[in-house]
Amino acid sequence: MLDGRRVLLVISGGIAAYKSLELIRRLKDRGADIRCVMTANAQNFVTPLAVQTLSGNKVFADTFSLTDEHEIGHITLARDCDLVVVAPATANLLAKMAHGLADDLASTALLVTDKPILVAPAMNFRMWGHPATRANMATLKERGVHAVGPNAGMLAEGESGLGRMAEPAEILAAVEGLLSSGPLRGLKALVTSGPTFEPIDPVRFIGNRSSGKQGHAIASALARLGAEVTLITGPVKLPDPPDMKVVHVETAREMLGAALGCLPVDIAVCAAAVADWTVSNASKEKRKKDPNGPPPAIELAANPDILATLSEKGSARPRLVVGFAAETENLLTHARAKLERKGCDWIVANDVSPSSGTFGSDFNTVHLITQGGVEDWPRIAKADVAERLAWKIADSVKGKP
Ligand SMILES: Cc1cc2nc3c(=O)[nH]c(=O)nc-3n(C[C@H](O)[C@H](O)[C@H](O)COP(=O)(O)O)c2cc1C
Repeated sequence: MLDGRRVLLVISGGIAAYKSLELIRRLKDRGADIRCVMTANAQNFVTPLAVQTLSGNKVFADTFSLTDEHEIGHITLARDCDLVVVAPATANLLAKMAHGLADDLASTALLVTDKPILVAPAMNFRMWGHPATRANMATLKERGVHAVGPNAGMLAEGESGLGRMAEPAEILAAVEGLLSSGPLRGLKALVTSGPTFEPIDPVRFIGNRSSGKQGHAIASALARLGAEVTLITGPVKLPDPPDMKVVHVETAREMLGAALGCLPVDIAVCAAAVADWTVSNASKEKRKKDPNGPPPAIELAANPDILATLSEKGSARPRLVVGFAAETENLLTHARAKLERKGCDWIVANDVSPSSGTFGSDFNTVHLITQGGVEDWPRIAKADVAERLAWKIADSVKGKP
């Protein structure tokens, strides 16, 4: 929650300004107090009235308004907050920030503030890739300005590429990460969850029964403790948890690519039930049934090992790597062997035999295996397993370099 936390939201003149309305709503829902500054160009995209109505506060736009300056000086406005968020951050405003220009209220506030700044860049992919913008972002990051996004995808002009503003939920997660007072504040975590689907052909696949409930609950618990979480999920029926970046994947290879794309992180929890094998003779077209012939043979090849890869990632290795072992027999023996084989720090072992009712259920019975031994946890709700694990993680990484 952001109860009582004060956010100064600077809205600049990009097409994504409409999403800042949703951001205001979400920040307010979390209990934050929002003041907004709009550039003159931002007002071409959303009206100050809409921003004022949603934020519940007067909107500031003019450095030289005698009334505003009388009510709250521009210096107080820029400092009387816990965090300054710029969303969307245009290429123009990022350039002004990098070069110390102060020719309107937004850029002046950004130059005079003594509070942390989070920018959510949004622009055409060529603007984002331009050496000038790259250099400006590098300067800002070097000065400690935080950034969320941009994401790849379809841009407003119909082109696609890197430049879409991060979704309001992702910006909110970054805000909470910066403002939260939880023990994992300032740390990044990646969590994998759900099954992977390995295609046989465009309509059929090999999957498994993982519901994603445990992995999603762990991602939420880590976020509640203040971590900036990226959840990489296979196909599940669950809604995306709020307050974090969620990446949807289907295959093990896609999951590995997304996980490597998140590095560096401080914590990695691999709770996904990743398929061990992929179909090496997957067909590009739907396989046809031959009534007279034998059924088609499916050939399997080993999938990449996400847990082992993250555990051995050299200097980019997360400080703590936690794997899951889902077994149907000899649970602890298999789980201990997995800890050694994969080189991870902890294994959470759970029995997924049909009689355990673990898959899809809201409850789980797990054993936490570390180098120090085994902890047997009672059967508790998956949400409670997640909470308990998140606190264990917080205790462990606090002392770790
Ligand atoms: C329809 C339209 C959409 C625009 N979208 C963006 C955008 O998404 N990102 C960006 O950096 N500039 C965008 N621009 C250009 C900015 O509006 C322009 O650089 C302006 O000077 C930014 O002013 P500000 O940074 O003071 O708000 C757009 C311009 C137009 C006309």
